[in-house]
Amino acid sequence: MALADFLADLDELVAQASAAFEAATDTEDLEAARIEFLGAKSGRLKNVQKGLGKVDKPDKPAAGKRFNEIKKQIESALEDAGKRLSAGGAKGVAKTTGFDPTVPGTRPQLGHIHPITQTIEELTDIMGRLGFTVTEGPEVEDLWHNFEALNIPLAHPARDPLDNFYLATGKMTAGVPQGEGGWLLRSQTSTVQIRAMEKTKPPVRIISLGRVYRPDTADATHYPMFHQIEGLLVDRHVTMADLKSILHLFASSFFGDDVDVRFRPSFFPFTEPSVEVDMSWHDLWIEFGGAGMVDPNVLRSVGYDPEEVSGLAFGLGIERVCARRHGITDIREFYKNDVRFLHQF
Ligand code: DAH
Repeated sequence: MALADFLADLDELVAQASAAFEAATDTEDLEAARIEFLGAKSGRLKNVQKGLGKVDKPDKPAAGKRFNEIKKQIESALEDAGKRLSAGGAKGVAKTTGFDPTVPGTRPQLGHIHPITQTIEELTDIMGRLGFTVTEGPEVEDLWHNFEALNIPLAHPARDPLDNFYLATGKMTAGVPQGEGGWLLRSQTSTVQIRAMEKTKPPVRIISLGRVYRPDTADATHYPMFHQIEGLLVDRHVTMADLKSILHLFASSFFGDDVDVRFRPSFFPFTEPSVEVDMSWHDLWIEFGGAGMVDPNVLRSVGYDPEEVSGLAFGLGIERVCARRHGITDIREFYKNDVRFLHQF
């Protein structure tokens, strides 16, 4: 056998063996390739080695030297491939499948119900247990329901255009809608008291929770839109003592037994007497809203007889209740839609 042929066989073998080792994607692959090329009985290197004996005698030393070099090259190619597979570990797999199960995943962010909505749901539940059902009213309201029927006549300061978002409909004088056709974004949920009583005969036992609007500059305790919970109970023999008990039950159900409720004398056109409602929880008194006994004029405006029935009513700020519960000191946080804030509830 000519030396040149023998050397050509060796060159071909090392090229094929290296390619096969490199292509191996796992240790099983690599082991199969090892057996094919370096197998002790019938590996291809073994076969080529048989040719060594047939090489012309003077060429034998050169052929043998080359054979040993090629054998080392193939062995070290095998070793490299083995290292690549074990060091790469899963990375070796990633190259071929594009998926690496060992890399930590990105947790999908779960949505949360907005804290104000959570509070609305909880208050609805608490009042539901006291027999109050939810009534809804429109956010764009007419002058009758926002003012007239609530005993707030045209000359009353609460109708000032600086305190209300009037819609530019109907006849306006100095920014105030006159008579028929005036509309505004409701400034209080007390409007729903009128709507509820217009629809039903007494007894009435409703709450209404929703948005109200006032042109206040936003600061830590004000926002041009906020939420109120309104309550109304009209029946025979309803008294101020009922009002206090209901508000106390409301407060202790929401905050816990360590809560106190106090009334301070006040004035609202639609209640007589009227009070401001403060609640104390963990030694901090906070004003949550107003309340009182429904004014006889209001009962008359919806066709009820104030000699027959009496009513209690209250209106509390939902942001305040929610902020107090969670120790939030700036109500603007509720409306920034910053998920880092909202995620906590
Ligand atoms: N509507 C009043 C306000 O927005 C709160 C209020 C006071 C509601 C007394 C009532 C009430 O039902 O009886 O400031």
